[in-house]
Amino acid sequence: MAAVRTLFVSLLLLSFTTSSLSGPEDDALLKFKESLTNAGALDSWEPNSQACNGWAGVVCFNGIITGLHLSDMGLSGKIDISALESVRGLRTISFVNNSFSGQIPEFNQLGALKSLLLTRNQFSGEIPIDFFLRMQSIKKVWLSENKFSGNIPASLAQLLNLMELHLEGNQFSGQIPSIKADKLVSVDFSRNKLTGPIPASLSKFGANSFAENDGLCGKQVGKECSNVENPMAVAIPQEAQTAPSQSSSGSKGGSSVFGTIVWIVGGILVVGIVLIVLFSSRRRDDDFRVLEKEKMHEAGQVNMPVPKSESSTKKGSVSKKGSQNGKGSTADLVIVNDQRGTFGLADLMKASAEVLGNGSLGSAYKAVMANGVSVVVKRMREMNAFTKEGFDAEMRRFGKIRHPNILTPLAYHYRREEKLLVSEYIPKGSLLYLLHGDRGICHAELNWPIRFKIILGVAHGLGFLHSEFSSHDLPHGNLKSSNVLLSDNYEPLLSDYALHPLMSSPQAAQAMFAYRAPESSQGVSLKCDIYCLGIIILEILTGKFPSQYISNGKGGTDVVQWVQSAISEQREEEIIDPAIMTSRDSVSQMVRLLHIGASCTESNAEDRVDLREAIRSIEELQV
Ligand SMILES: *[C@@H]1O[C@H](CO)[C@@H](O)[C@H](O)[C@H]1NC(C)=O
Repeated sequence: MAAVRTLFVSLLLLSFTTSSLSGPEDDALLKFKESLTNAGALDSWEPNSQACNGWAGVVCFNGIITGLHLSDMGLSGKIDISALESVRGLRTISFVNNSFSGQIPEFNQLGALKSLLLTRNQFSGEIPIDFFLRMQSIKKVWLSENKFSGNIPASLAQLLNLMELHLEGNQFSGQIPSIKADKLVSVDFSRNKLTGPIPASLSKFGANSFAENDGLCGKQVGKECSNVENPMAVAIPQEAQTAPSQSSSGSKGGSSVFGTIVWIVGGILVVGIVLIVLFSSRRRDDDFRVLEKEKMHEAGQVNMPVPKSESSTKKGSVSKKGSQNGKGSTADLVIVNDQRGTFGLADLMKASAEVLGNGSLGSAYKAVMANGVSVVVKRMREMNAFTKEGFDAEMRRFGKIRHPNILTPLAYHYRREEKLLVSEYIPKGSLLYLLHGDRGICHAELNWPIRFKIILGVAHGLGFLHSEFSSHDLPHGNLKSSNVLLSDNYEPLLSDYALHPLMSSPQAAQAMFAYRAPESSQGVSLKCDIYCLGIIILEILTGKFPSQYISNGKGGTDVVQWVQSAISEQREEEIIDPAIMTSRDSVSQMVRLLHIGASCTESNAEDRVDLREAIRSIEELQV
């Protein structure tokens, strides 16, 4: 200890007595300057002086060199990266508007960089696909107005902290990678040679970000993607073909009249859906909204917007036809689980209905039927990855599931453009609502034994799905607190599971929570479900609304980050929800669960705990 102190004092003295001399980092910058040509603007960089004492373009913080802002200096020549590597505190580099040329220098050796601004130079050539892999701190990447060519490096898609990406005015070609950094606030791909669909993950950015790329397609550029490139777009033309085909079952002469009726009814329905969507939520896919809906029940009575069909008049014959003949729209509901009796569309249409909210897969309604049974009807957009027969087989398989932690659906209705999925209404509502809804009432009711029971039940439910749907990439795929319902005795029931194979990949990537796992840009796997389980565990323990649930990342708490730093600083107890800290005896149990939650949310999927191991560790905590 004494030795350390002496060393420290002597270092202090040294820095005093040699204040006019340069240190190793100053020398490193001088070495960097040597390899430049045309460095007249850097005359102030002189030997035996200190960079933080007035060198042009050097940014310091508390005597540490943190940035090189060398814009508009006419610099060219070689950029000596190894010299810059010895500047340990360097976080921001700007060479905007200079005359550098050639391949991109190996800035990726500077793994701690937060911004790399190279706009308006003459850099050219391809950027290696893995260039950004080791630059996980980077927030701003500006490569605009150069002569870069080749593909946009896919490693950009894996940068979790990326906020600004400017690639405009280059010669980039190929497709835009599916960049889904939550914090992304500005992107610009304009004036390149990019082709293919604009990824769904970038749908919040407008036309300007993609302008002047002849080969791009998507909403923003007003060009529909062809079938091959974007399976989402296929549904529209095919749907148009199905209407006439319905006439084959009716009389030939009446076909056009029947077709027109179908279209008029369809049109009214579409208007109705649009009104309901507008009325119930201005922005969809946002759990905050669902939460507000669940909380307020403001929508009151609405007419159940189920599709009108012949079923009300010729029910028997039509429903038989619907189940045999796979073409066109099914006329009635198909009951896959008769534990709550059998009922048809007509019963739903007569029921009093209430809008529950808009989830990521579609909107949900509660309907109380005349026989007293309450159901939830989820309208799900598209889901056309399977044929009608395949969809039917999948739903019947769901209908046979019996597990205390799984909500088994009751019935479905199939139309090409949307599906209705009917399940029992669970009065207590979702975990999301109970945890974050009417604080003070529901929140307090969730004491520690109940919360532990919920975590254990969710883990068991997920474990069951992973064995039942073991061939699926994502046996659940959409595990989050809004999809965990609570029975009267707080037994959790998982819903919205195993729908991944039914969706097209862009739809799944946009709607399913498992796609928020950090590694999902390289492909989804069972590990993504484990990440979602971890988020729920952390959400229950901290009582915070996870920012991971919000698509634009604004609001909520980044529970993963928060818990990780609490664990590394050994102050786990501080972040546990005060509402459950009353049971002091259980604190060690909570802390151990917090560690389990953290190991489920490891950002590197390979480091993430195995599901069976996680379940076993949770079971071991049972008292
Ligand atoms: C670029 O830098 C040069 C000096 O090298 C300066 O004269 C010019 O105005 C700058 N251009 C822009 C657009 O800032």
